Amino acid sequence: MSVSSLDISIKKTDKSRIGEIDPANIQFGKNYSDHMLIAYYENGKWGKPEIMPFHDLSFSPATTFLHYGQAIFEGVKAYKDPQGNPIIFRPYDNWKRMNRSAERMAMPDIPQDIFIDGMRELVNLDRDWVPSGADTSLYIRPFMLAVDEFIGVRPAEKFMFIIITSPAGPYYNKPVSIYVQDKYVRAFPGGIGFTKAAGNYGMSMYPTMQIKKMGYDQILWTDGFEHKYVQEIGTMNVFFVIGDTVITPDVTQDTILEGVTRESVLTLLREKGVKTEERPLSIDEIEEAFHAGKLKEAFGTGTAASIAPIRELTFHDDKMVLPDIEHWEITNWLKQELADIRYGRKKDTHNWVVAV
Ligand code: COI
Repeated sequence: MSVSSLDISIKKTDKSRIGEIDPANIQFGKNYSDHMLIAYYENGKWGKPEIMPFHDLSFSPATTFLHYGQAIFEGVKAYKDPQGNPIIFRPYDNWKRMNRSAERMAMPDIPQDIFIDGMRELVNLDRDWVPSGADTSLYIRPFMLAVDEFIGVRPAEKFMFIIITSPAGPYYNKPVSIYVQDKYVRAFPGGIGFTKAAGNYGMSMYPTMQIKKMGYDQILWTDGFEHKYVQEIGTMNVFFVIGDTVITPDVTQDTILEGVTRESVLTLLREKGVKTEERPLSIDEIEEAFHAGKLKEAFGTGTAASIAPIRELTFHDDKMVLPDIEHWEITNWLKQELADIRYGRKKDTHNWVVAV
């Protein structure tokens, strides 16, 4: 039965691959569900979306996105509620953010019904792929590609919007160690740091490879002018608990992704009466707080990563090792609170959860 009024054509697979999944060992990004959604944009308008069996795509070697990176994506998650039904967490916020990315990358707006109803329909069809184990979910990856067959440099005129889904376990299965980057730069004001453009991730591969060789998990990026103010971690926004205040860098400069999990965390903290600040935060202030014993907790937030505690932070030769996370009041409370809402165990007072 269709879950929306959008006219989506559905071609079902003859043979489900769900038997290939080991529910006890679900890793992030390794397996893809039976179906995918595709919509084409041409002559200034979107065509009818189609759901079809998951399959490889083929492109002309001259296709725009292959050369010039006119490509954007989103990350959304569906969870299984206590009744066994899939629910999607804050997809409208991802839809709005995808359109902010699209505008900056000279790509067309995606209509709400294609993004939201298309996603609901796809998740409904592949509902058996939403895992039910602790810390598991169905990761939903909407993305848009510029598909003109033309290697001149100009904004494309043809686009594909695609959604694939993937059963997911935790992105990080232990607290992360972070290297504070003071050589390479992720984003400048006026750039594309606030978007989920493919290039933001492509450019991070080389610096991330370097720090992984040194034993760190992820980079904490700093501003490009002075390498002084922290921005975000490669796959997450970042929060520091200094004294009784939870501080996260503000997103006013267009250099930092406006994370949906980031916003959820700020909302939950404010409702609980915890002091929060969104403002420029320098690495000097973090170091001073650490050495004065005031840096209590630090964590990253993101759809894939959820809430990821930071075990240590290294800036130059200053290795700041945080106390054991078992005693972190705020991070542990947030993890539980957010999980209870996402898995439908707690009343959703914010209208964050969408049934399929
Ligand atoms: C997400 O959290 O959804 C992301 O997009 C981060 C990463 C997996 C690229």
